[in-house]
Amino acid sequence: MHRITTTRLKKMKQAGEKIACLTAYDASFAHILDAAGVEILLVGDSLGMVIQGQETTLPVSLDEMIYHTRAVRTGSEKALLMVDMPFMADATPAQALHSAARLMKEGGAQMVKLEGGSVLLETVKALAARGIPVCSHLGLLPQSVHKQGGYRVQGRDEASALEMIGDARAMQAAGADMLLLECVPATLAAEITRAVEIPVIGIGAGPDVDAQVLVLYDMLGITPGKRPSFSHDFLADSGDIPAAVAAYVQAVKGGGFPTAVHSF
Ligand code: KIV
Repeated sequence: MHRITTTRLKKMKQAGEKIACLTAYDASFAHILDAAGVEILLVGDSLGMVIQGQETTLPVSLDEMIYHTRAVRTGSEKALLMVDMPFMADATPAQALHSAARLMKEGGAQMVKLEGGSVLLETVKALAARGIPVCSHLGLLPQSVHKQGGYRVQGRDEASALEMIGDARAMQAAGADMLLLECVPATLAAEITRAVEIPVIGIGAGPDVDAQVLVLYDMLGITPGKRPSFSHDFLADSGDIPAAVAAYVQAVKGGGFPTAVHSF
């Protein structure tokens, strides 16, 4: 077993060492990211938007996630492989167990990421009890875009901020090994990061979290349309794709990304 483990990532948090994460969907990019020292490859269901050209992540199927996970696994050697549970593949704890088993057995995933707070507590407990590492995704939940009324920053008011802090603690207690916070105010993300022992990954969550993630196609400037304000086009500043990825890793590790410009 040569891949990065959850134990290693927890030690990095304890040591104050920043963790770099990017999304990956195929073997060639996975190889470049792995060689650049990206510690976590996320096979995100964002592939529905950036690969398939869908309007949201909702149409992505479990079979499609398995297909891309297998490709990313083949192209990489060292990074931890985290994979998104697609929309409603975790509708019940039993279904989540079945879906996670397929992502791990057929795709080679090491960890599954589930979007949602307290409603998923029993599911996270069931997965953890069966030895399945879980990342709990809080804040902006792209699979709930219709319910959240668009892609909007979450946790701006006191009640929703307190709810998110409670969810983060509850997820850790339920057995989650990692948290991911998407589009939350930087001060709230920092508070949650201090409140839990497990590593916290941020995207649009400011600099004071343990790890950063971006959608690969956003940070290479190839996603059609407007780039999210929390992202940065690293390819525009670099000569080629490996150099852009290396610049991202260096910026995350050195504290150069994200800055206040990329935060809420
Ligand atoms: O699907 C994805 O790429 C994600 C990131 C936005 C974190 O979940």
